Amino acid sequence: MDRTRRPRRLRRDGIRELVRETSLSARDLIAPVFVDATADERVDIPSMPGHERVPVDDAVERVEEVLATGVETVILFGIPSEKDEIGSRADAADGVVQAATRAISRETDATVITDVCLCEYTDHGHCGVLEASAPETTTLTVQNDPTLDRLADVAVSHAEAGADMVAPSSMMDGMVGAIRRGLDDAGHEDLPIMSYAVKYESAFYGPFRDAADGAPAFGDRRHYQMDPGNRREALREADLDVEQGADALMVKPAMPYLDIVRDVREETTLPVAAYQVSGEYAMLQAASEQGWLDLEAVALESLVAIERAGADVIVTYFAEMVAESLA
Ligand code: PBG
Repeated sequence: MDRTRRPRRLRRDGIRELVRETSLSARDLIAPVFVDATADERVDIPSMPGHERVPVDDAVERVEEVLATGVETVILFGIPSEKDEIGSRADAADGVVQAATRAISRETDATVITDVCLCEYTDHGHCGVLEASAPETTTLTVQNDPTLDRLADVAVSHAEAGADMVAPSSMMDGMVGAIRRGLDDAGHEDLPIMSYAVKYESAFYGPFRDAADGAPAFGDRRHYQMDPGNRREALREADLDVEQGADALMVKPAMPYLDIVRDVREETTLPVAAYQVSGEYAMLQAASEQGWLDLEAVALESLVAIERAGADVIVTYFAEMVAESLA
């Protein structure tokens, strides 16, 4: 051993914190909030302990709870009053997300991001408009281009309600460009788009689909979401969204895809977001309920790791808990 080389010197109390490379701040965290048009009181989400669906009338109160922890940004998901084939309630002026956004923007200082997708609003649970793929079969697939017009309308309706940023998550080709044009034509040139640019077809979304009631009624999302084995393709998706005018890029899920977060970080100068999804939350919660993991410690460590991999911002169900521990 070379006795002059002692990395432990920098790990002494006081020094260790001084030279820390990655420090998480509550300002980097985005808290998901579920607003439910069918609920008249708060409903627990069993697969996501500590999270609830709240009625529209409680949305402001719910966001105030988030703000009290030091988290300043929420991402809203809606459970509509009814569902149909084309997700009509997704772009209704009096829809659940629109009503909640209006109230939250009027009554709080929160930064409001809205998820732009159709899966919570369609009766079949897919992220777009369906059509028979071939007349001789009954196989239905999501039609890309007809879905784009719907997504642009959804984004515009969120903008009109006062959203500060829209986050399209449907993984349709051309979605960012279509939404950008829709927003610009409606006079919302200044509204930023955070694209779920790199979204994998992941089994880690399971608990969310309970929470937002958005599980596909048949089949899966493998024809539009990415194959978990693909790495280079993530960069193609990121490039396409940059070309189409995305203002920030998201990678989802986060923990099992840290290599992708790093790749996207190195590919772009735009802000990179990572979404620590419902399954990542649920597994840490479940292990801690067994007494096998210390929840606060693993939550914090997981977020530090995601930021170290290259994320500037993190969407996480631990936002409030971790923000409180940072304060
Ligand atoms: C789609 C959407 C999903 C999530 C966020 N937006 C579900 C999906 O693609 O199946 C998942 C988030 C999570 O698991 O926490 N609108």
